[in-house]
Amino acid sequence: MRFDQPATTNPIDQGKVVGIATPRIDGPLKTTGTAPYAYEHHDVKPTPAVGFVIGAGIAKGRVAAMDLRAARAAPGVLAIVTAQNAGKLGKGSKNTAKLLGGPQIEHYHQALAVVVAESFEQARAAAGLIDIRYEEAKGRFDLAAEKRHAPVAKSDGFGGPGETKHGDFEAGFAKAPVQLDATYTTPDQGHAMMEPHATIAWWEGKKLSVWTANQMVDWAVGDLAKTLGIAKQDVRVRSPFVGGGFGGKLFLRADVLLAALAAKAAHRPVKIALTRPLMFNNTTHRPATIQRIRIGADKDGRIQAISHESWSGNLPGGGPETATAQTRLLYAGEHRHTAMHLAVLDLPEGNAMRAPGEAPGLMALEIAMDEMAGKLGLDPIEFRLRNDTQVDPEKPQRPFSQRHLAECLRIGAERFGWSKRKSEPAQVRDGRWLVGQGVAAAFRNNLLMKSKARVRLDGERVVVETDMTDIGTGSYTIIAQTAAETLGVPLDKVVVRLGDSAFPVSCGSGGQWGGNNSTAGVYAACMKLRELVAQKAGMTQAEFVDGEVRAGGKSVALKSFAGLVAEDGIEYGDLDKRYQQSTFGAHFCEVAVDVATAEVRVRRMLAVCAAGRILNPTSARSQVIGAMTMGVGAALMEALKVDHRRGFFVNHDLAGYEVPVHADIPHQDVVFLDETDPISSPMKAKGVGELGICGAAAAVANAVYNATGVRVRDYPITLDKLL
Ligand code: MOS
Repeated sequence: MRFDQPATTNPIDQGKVVGIATPRIDGPLKTTGTAPYAYEHHDVKPTPAVGFVIGAGIAKGRVAAMDLRAARAAPGVLAIVTAQNAGKLGKGSKNTAKLLGGPQIEHYHQALAVVVAESFEQARAAAGLIDIRYEEAKGRFDLAAEKRHAPVAKSDGFGGPGETKHGDFEAGFAKAPVQLDATYTTPDQGHAMMEPHATIAWWEGKKLSVWTANQMVDWAVGDLAKTLGIAKQDVRVRSPFVGGGFGGKLFLRADVLLAALAAKAAHRPVKIALTRPLMFNNTTHRPATIQRIRIGADKDGRIQAISHESWSGNLPGGGPETATAQTRLLYAGEHRHTAMHLAVLDLPEGNAMRAPGEAPGLMALEIAMDEMAGKLGLDPIEFRLRNDTQVDPEKPQRPFSQRHLAECLRIGAERFGWSKRKSEPAQVRDGRWLVGQGVAAAFRNNLLMKSKARVRLDGERVVVETDMTDIGTGSYTIIAQTAAETLGVPLDKVVVRLGDSAFPVSCGSGGQWGGNNSTAGVYAACMKLRELVAQKAGMTQAEFVDGEVRAGGKSVALKSFAGLVAEDGIEYGDLDKRYQQSTFGAHFCEVAVDVATAEVRVRRMLAVCAAGRILNPTSARSQVIGAMTMGVGAALMEALKVDHRRGFFVNHDLAGYEVPVHADIPHQDVVFLDETDPISSPMKAKGVGELGICGAAAAVANAVYNATGVRVRDYPITLDKLL
């Protein structure tokens, strides 16, 4: 189904199943611990051997010698795979550094070997016997030091330019009566998902199968085939349940490739889970940024000039953190400039983490807006409202498909009790606590991806198959709701099968595109099935209700068409070129700061979101709350600490890399605006899973300022920065 006209009334609008708060259909499997994750497929025969991955002990240089003799002779060892004996490997299209390094070493903990043994303990013990000698080379590890060697990136990663200029920023800024020029920094962050990268791999002749944890099944198939030099149709990837990804599992990683190589070498299925200490330096992370923002406004608070420059680093061939993306679209203003600078750093590979670009970008921009409101003597909500725009500020002929940012701010202010806030900082005392409130806008683009599905009538059941993944987001449930609504059957008659490359290729899970696009693909397949059924029944204008197909006073049970199958998907025309598609929101936060220790406690948070039709308010709310929690982590705790001499993230475990826990978050509320966006897809939905993190950290930061009068521009806002 090609989607190139705004959506009209269709079966989804009935709202009998779609849009209704629905518990996860996979909930019982999750809560009883019976949803099998990659490492838990116990039916693979013969019993898999276990691989233990060895990561490089230096950040840059080469392996001078690797002595495997003692390890080979150790008990239980079946094989050891290194770059020396792995054969020729290609490179996947989505990895920057090699997944199996050596002799060249591109980053710390780059995989150099995998030891395969009968048990995990044997593999780990043998790995400890491998003697590696390194020749270390000088690397670049300090973003601040490399900032002056950071040219503008070629692209923003989405086909847009690395730099944009509209009007004359310098002149506009110089003339503006009220000016802000401030620099903000965000640290490297790790995804720190619960389930590590894990894979079971085995070969049957030239055919490779893996159970793995991956967000994008088809990308994994493609890159695995490319790296191993085999045909795509000889690779089967299954990833039906994923214990969190946050962008860290978008791409093929070392566990998959090394399990495949190890299984070949050991002539046996092999399972590998990256150990927690390997996760932070072996896989990807969100790159640190330095962001300079200049805003010039007239005395009424209308922005005349805005510039946002960002610096980040990556390995050669890697991309920038696209932290200025939202500044191209969020606020009005005639004279505009954005630039994404990219330095070469020999740290582990930087890549997508939940709302790449906007999440760190808004951490800076939305503090800048708060600071500017202060200079203007305007309420920060009023300042944002004065600079709202219904068109793309860089291309005024291009409207937003829908933009309800102002409503989010107004409704949020009302619900949160914003009018009671003291605009002067450090005015409110509650015992030993200073109390303050902050606000920030949320913005995240709505990305369109083609997505396919297959739908089959099987007795009374409807079976949906697509290679879509559920990374904890609720894909199973919204897909079941979509099929139930479209085909007029109860939800419990829909069986959803996901995460298998044998199924039609979906959009996968990433960039908050999964919800809207995967369900739109399922919708297309269901509509095709409706045509097939109507044809068979000899009906025109058929209705699908209560398990029956009806037309002209006649009705036939759907189950009498058992065996019918339809496969189709959604593909997009250029609607998204004519309209800017984005999601919007407003975050509110109240914090208390201990006057003596400067300990920050979040007291309550509210997010108001405008993201098209909300397919399932229950799972959407969970997504937003999870994202807000991640925003609190970004604001107050999360930072990978770089060792600038040795070039690695020092705090590479969950003891040293702190994330919020339940006790850190006493009260969170989420409100969804009642809207549908006919430009986004037949579902009229948009993404919401990343919107929730966008702006959340800045709302916390602004609340800390309102509580204390101390402006911290360097995340995370740890107590030492407030004293
Ligand atoms: Mo997301 S960072 O594209 O999983």
